[in-house]
Amino acid sequence: MRRLEGRTAIVTGSGQGIGEAIAMAMAEEGAGVVVAELREETADAVRRKIEEGGGTALAHATDVSQEPSVDAMVQACLERFGKVDILVNNAGIYPTSTVADMDEDEWERVIGTNLFGTFLCSRAVTPHMLQQQGGRIISITSGRGLQGADNGAHYASSKGGIIGFTKSLARELAPAGVAVNCICPGVSDTAQPRGHRTEEELYASAARIPLGRIGQPADMARAAVFLASDRAKFVTGQTLVVNGGAIMQ
Ligand SMILES: NC(=O)c1ccc[n+]([C@@H]2O[C@H](COP(=O)([O-])OP(=O)(O)OC[C@H]3O[C@@H](n4cnc5c(N)ncnc54)[C@H](O)[C@@H]3O)[C@@H](O)[C@H]2O)c1
Repeated sequence: MRRLEGRTAIVTGSGQGIGEAIAMAMAEEGAGVVVAELREETADAVRRKIEEGGGTALAHATDVSQEPSVDAMVQACLERFGKVDILVNNAGIYPTSTVADMDEDEWERVIGTNLFGTFLCSRAVTPHMLQQQGGRIISITSGRGLQGADNGAHYASSKGGIIGFTKSLARELAPAGVAVNCICPGVSDTAQPRGHRTEEELYASAARIPLGRIGQPADMARAAVFLASDRAKFVTGQTLVVNGGAIMQ
């Protein structure tokens, strides 16, 4: 029996990287998946991959920082699948700048995508999860939210904020049987860290990781499937750190 058979999952920012791996893994476990991604072409490419693998998916061009776009995403999900069981707040951006040089637009863009986007998407699915008395909300935070980021105070603030938001929403939705958790990836092999590290620096990070390698999107996807599945039904308000031991909480 596949672990997410008959469920419906929305995965934001799933046109590439960690989000793509989560969308693919949830589809393999039997979920119908909404590939909710800013860039329509990559959303559609992931939809095609899922369907070629025998899964079911809908591509939806979505900007998580814009309320009308988020509402349209949830509406499209309901029209296609009739319900939403799982939301994965994965969309995130990480431009770099010192605080001294950071302009307000960049601060707002990062908080708007990473933290406000997590709020908007979570709020949009909440009435449906309350009505069905069940659901899972999983948000992707970062080790930077625990430890701070060089040249990334906006990013660290957004990711730390996601942890506080998750614990608060977990308390609010627990009586309805909705579990709300975070995954905290360590440095992982995707486009995002390549925006602020050289290839050499990225792989050199492995030397500081007890398990001896950087993360792969599939590592985060396995954690997301676990948190979405019945195996995690007594887990809420938690941050699952998936980083090879780089930070031990
Ligand atoms: N890769 C890492 O080392 C790492 C470490 C810790 C946390 N994370 C977090 O994991 C998540 C995924 O990261 P990744 O490495 O796969 O990044 P990525 O840059 O490869 O992919 C991010 C995806 O989000 C999409 N996106 C950006 N803004 C969006 C918006 N407003 N609405 C909808 N989609 C949007 C992008 O188009 C892209 O497809 C992010 O939240 C990131 O902060 C990544």
